[in-house]
Amino acid sequence: MNLKTTIDDAVTKALRKAGAKGSPAVVKPAARAEFGHYQANGVMGAAKKLGMNPRELAARVIESLDLPQAASTEIAGPGFINIHLDPAYLAEELARVRRDAMLGVARPARQTIVVDYSAPNLAKEMHIGHLRTTAIGDAIVRISEFLGHNVIRVNHVGDWGAQFGRLLAYLDELDAVDTTTELKDLEKFYQHASARASADPAFAARAREYVVRLQGGDARCLALWQTFIETSINHCQAVYDKMDITLTRADLAPESSYNDKLPVLIEDLRQKGILVESDGALCVFLDEFKGKDGKPLPAIIRKSDGGYPYMATDLAAVQHRTQTLHADKALYVVGAPQTLHFQQVFAVARAAGYLDEKTDFRHLPFGNILRPDGKMFKTREGADVKLSDVADEAVTRARELVAAKNPDLSDSDKDEISRVVGIGAMKYAELSKNRTTDYIFDWNTMLSFEGNTAPYLQYAYTRIRSVFKRAGVDADSLEGDITLTHENEIALAMKLLQFPEALEAVTEDYQSNVLCGYLYELSGIFMAFYEQCPILKADDATRTSRLLLCDVAAKILKQGLGLLGISTVEQM
Ligand code: ARG
Repeated sequence: MNLKTTIDDAVTKALRKAGAKGSPAVVKPAARAEFGHYQANGVMGAAKKLGMNPRELAARVIESLDLPQAASTEIAGPGFINIHLDPAYLAEELARVRRDAMLGVARPARQTIVVDYSAPNLAKEMHIGHLRTTAIGDAIVRISEFLGHNVIRVNHVGDWGAQFGRLLAYLDELDAVDTTTELKDLEKFYQHASARASADPAFAARAREYVVRLQGGDARCLALWQTFIETSINHCQAVYDKMDITLTRADLAPESSYNDKLPVLIEDLRQKGILVESDGALCVFLDEFKGKDGKPLPAIIRKSDGGYPYMATDLAAVQHRTQTLHADKALYVVGAPQTLHFQQVFAVARAAGYLDEKTDFRHLPFGNILRPDGKMFKTREGADVKLSDVADEAVTRARELVAAKNPDLSDSDKDEISRVVGIGAMKYAELSKNRTTDYIFDWNTMLSFEGNTAPYLQYAYTRIRSVFKRAGVDADSLEGDITLTHENEIALAMKLLQFPEALEAVTEDYQSNVLCGYLYELSGIFMAFYEQCPILKADDATRTSRLLLCDVAAKILKQGLGLLGISTVEQM
């Protein structure tokens, strides 16, 4: 059930009856939800086309409006139609939603959706920049699974490039004991290996040889590489576990896994007649890609030295995703600098017939995470800030807040709550921003109990739960009728019934901030209801009805946060 769609359809029909042709009415929820009504705003445009007075047309629309869910309608301003839904209808829907595992959300047609996210290069440990793709991708996965899709997580980690030559050459120089200590900190390991390469030309030459040997399947190199990759994957998995990210080892589809497919890919592109040799490299030229100088821009599939670039692996990955995984859709959660890369990947894949009109492969780009001073995130030494350290700091900072807010909590409660609040705050800071722009990572804002933050929402949730505790009522087994009379009750009911609309809006362009915005507004409307409508002091029927409203609010808040990968606690 989707309130907006129901109203949209009814108004559209009424507009047609009144003589309007063409575009359906656009119906928007009232900008201020506490008004407790929807406002149809498609009449003015239609009136203009018909050469009619908009208020006159609105009157005709109201006359033929077939919307039993509406208690009353009125014309507002130059020709808007305000639709007040019947409180009895809202109450009935709410009772149904309360018992519905999907909380009123209808499952769309089931699709197979590949979500390509996180995907760090395994040469180094994950850094703060990986927070974006990891948190956004995981939210998309959770939302899509909730909607009933067949979701395939793909962690397309980089494990095969030139940088591994240096690491392997360095690893080979160390004895076994050193190796374990050195590999504890991949960041340092990477720095040491790079330093060796710049200091010693013989080492650098050896490093280049190692890449060739590795890609040629040399046993010694493969064994060293395996040790290194294993350590690096364990690092990643530890970060995922710490941050409650649903990726596991089973979701790994590293670049190296496509290695065998690359010569086949070349052959296929050659047979399809789109492969061109240019300065010794094998390329695909498509008209839509031109460089600044207007010259055609190649998609390089094999370099002149015989090596396969990133492009080749991604094309093989597209083939795998359509032909083997049968993906209807693939979402690539990768930074904005790779926009051209993915445009080329998808265009070449279309030209080669790996993608057709029915498959929806999309790059979902995102901007940078900046420090409060607007600069890029680096340590004082200029190294990347490790994501693992950031997560630890989030929990440490949250613990101070939790201890200050509620000093009487036991230590183990404090531990659990600060983990949920700290990690939640960090993810929410990410997810509540527009994906495509840069944003500033600021501890004080994200950990605030006020404003559009995880702690605020998590706290709102505990407030609701504490009502039940004080009432001595078990929320799940509570029975009774919902009656909506107070305007704050109606506003809350309507907002709760807009959960399906919010989810639909999120999946249009996979902007999680739409869901955050919804949850934030819901919490605000709940708080207003909580202040205006006494619960425990009300008469029995009202008390039950209000407790039932509280229960739906708690369920939607918990589910909504859960879809963002954020947990809740019972007290804070
Ligand atoms: N490893 C890449 C990087 O760190 C991201 C991979 C994204 N996924 C893909 N299919 N190319 O830039």
